[in-house]
Amino acid sequence: MIDQQTIERINDAARIEDVVSDYVTLRKRGVNMIGLCPFHNEKTPSITVSPAKGIFKCFGCGKGGNSIHFIMEHEQLSYVEALKHLARKYHIEVVEKELTPEEIAARNDRESMLLVNEYAQKYFVSTLYNHVEGKAVGLGYFRERGFRDDIIKKFQLGYCLDEKDAFTQKALKEGYQKEFLVKTGLTYEGDNNYVADRFRGRVMFPIHSLSGKVLAFGGRILKNDKNLAKYVNSPESEIYHKSNELYGIFFAKQAIVKQDRCFLVEGYTDVLSMHQSGIENVVASSGTALTPGQIRLIHRFTENVTVIYDGDPAGIKASLRGIDLLLEEGLNIKVLLLPDGEDPDSFARKHNASDFIKIVNENSVDFMRFKTNLLLEDAGNDPIKKAGLIQDIVRSIAFIPNQIIRAEYVKECSTLLGVNEQILYHEINKIKNKKLEARLIRPGEPKKEVPKEDDASKSFAQNVAQLRTKFAGEEENIIRLLIKFGNHTLYKSAGSNGENEIIYRVCEYVLSELSQDNLVFQNPIFEKMKNEYAENYRNEEFEASTHFLYHSDVEVSRAAVDLISEKYTLSKVHERYQTVKPDEERLNELAPKFILEYKLAIIMNNRKDKMLEMKQAFEAKDKEKMALIRTDIERIDQLKQILSKELDRVLNLI
Ligand code: CTP
Ligand code: MN
Repeated sequence: MIDQQTIERINDAARIEDVVSDYVTLRKRGVNMIGLCPFHNEKTPSITVSPAKGIFKCFGCGKGGNSIHFIMEHEQLSYVEALKHLARKYHIEVVEKELTPEEIAARNDRESMLLVNEYAQKYFVSTLYNHVEGKAVGLGYFRERGFRDDIIKKFQLGYCLDEKDAFTQKALKEGYQKEFLVKTGLTYEGDNNYVADRFRGRVMFPIHSLSGKVLAFGGRILKNDKNLAKYVNSPESEIYHKSNELYGIFFAKQAIVKQDRCFLVEGYTDVLSMHQSGIENVVASSGTALTPGQIRLIHRFTENVTVIYDGDPAGIKASLRGIDLLLEEGLNIKVLLLPDGEDPDSFARKHNASDFIKIVNENSVDFMRFKTNLLLEDAGNDPIKKAGLIQDIVRSIAFIPNQIIRAEYVKECSTLLGVNEQILYHEINKIKNKKLEARLIRPGEPKKEVPKEDDASKSFAQNVAQLRTKFAGEEENIIRLLIKFGNHTLYKSAGSNGENEIIYRVCEYVLSELSQDNLVFQNPIFEKMKNEYAENYRNEEFEASTHFLYHSDVEVSRAAVDLISEKYTLSKVHERYQTVKPDEERLNELAPKFILEYKLAIIMNNRKDKMLEMKQAFEAKDKEKMALIRTDIERIDQLKQILSKELDRVLNLI
């Protein structure tokens, strides 16, 4: 955890106009600056940078935030990674909060393993370029396959000498501990101090994390020996969970966001060749079936996946299950089937990026249609096979979370399969019920895995969606009022007997109104902000907007940006009461207005609940209960009348 002071220091140094203009040409417009938004394609500038507020906002795609948010979005980094990125750039020392001894031990282990991998990666690269065997065998191989030097360099390809333990001995001599050489799988360990290199005689493909750290390696054999596996990979370890990683994601993430599409291929060399031909939004599942973790990794960057298959039917069929998982995750999937004998590697070599994209656009088909046709061909006229096929298709469709898309598939498959839509729906519902049952019977079933790195790169829309709790609008008004004007004077009263006058601030009014009625915000972010405000407002140094903008919880800092950005002035919220007076001159009207509106919303919600209860009591013919509820409703109505009147008075309507 990075503490708030450091975050503030980083944000102070990383001036928004500096940070953005590293990526975007900015022009001055009034007090602000404008430019072309890097997050969506556009021809007229719609990103606005406000040096005074330290924030940017794109009115085209809605993205906005402070310097840190900009880097997160642009570099696709987590909050902490973005902070560190900027800290490095502006030479600020990052102070992390203290960790427990267990955390330190675990972190040290992981860090030592990453260090070992980093060393190994550099060693293998150096062997490739400098050692006779490396040059002749390793580099020779890559060049013969037609990989350009810039690609070999970019992907940090290397070579491990064909000797029993040359690498391990060198690493030990450099002071790397055997424990971590073994834990990362670079070294095999046996009895009597026996050690051996796992990857001897192989060309090396480092596997990078989302943030570019080397987590593992794949090593390809160069000899034609049927007894040896073509690829050897690092084993599972504390830093490498194969099922959560995708080869190439580090080099692909920006392009995936920009193109809003991810190509999915099988192997290391497919990724390399596609990059070489200029297509960078590509990742590989490394020969195994896709896992939910990998799918969510893709989903962080796009909803659109195109799977590229070579023409091998057995391979395609084996992968269909994995693709169902993509459907379940709500992704839109297309399939490109390459001509016989081609794989993405060979295909990319023959086409430049624009041809390739053209071929993709013209030839890729929707996954469900692809699968249906494939299985149909297979089943021929065999009725039993065909029944099995319908089951299979129906299962795929049942996975799709979006009802409208599901309906379209049902329609299409009904035509393709020659089966009545109603029958398909019937089968789909059966499967869904089964799934539901399974969940009910096993309530302890683990929920969907949480993505490993923090979820800071959630899309703006997802963040906004999260705020849609009950009363979110009313709560937002109150929090915005607190952040922007909490410190302003609401009214002064001359102290009795000529004593000091008493100043009553907006925050004091708001917080006491809320605590009087024990009101708890439904939106967890707003509730957190309210509580922190309440803890801090007596402190003279407390500056709400700074506190929340540079908060160590990225959700809070994002919310703060939205709350203070220009788009929402408080007055605008109340259209029917347009006025030329600026907000700060209307606080004695706005503060009670927001509080009253919030309370009214809660009361009306209560009333709705009571009416439901009433209906149930009526149906149950429970007269006693009905009478009780009626009294409650009457009380609510009285309260509502009082509050409404008060609100009208505040708004000068009476
Ligand atoms: N793979 C593996 N172990 C193997 C074979 C394959 O881990 N014994 C994984 C690798 O990640 C490989 C991918 O599956 O990249 C696809 O396999 P394949 O198509 O055989 O390899 P290519 O990447 O095409 O390698 P090459 O073109 O050099 O044969
Ligand atoms: Mn290949």
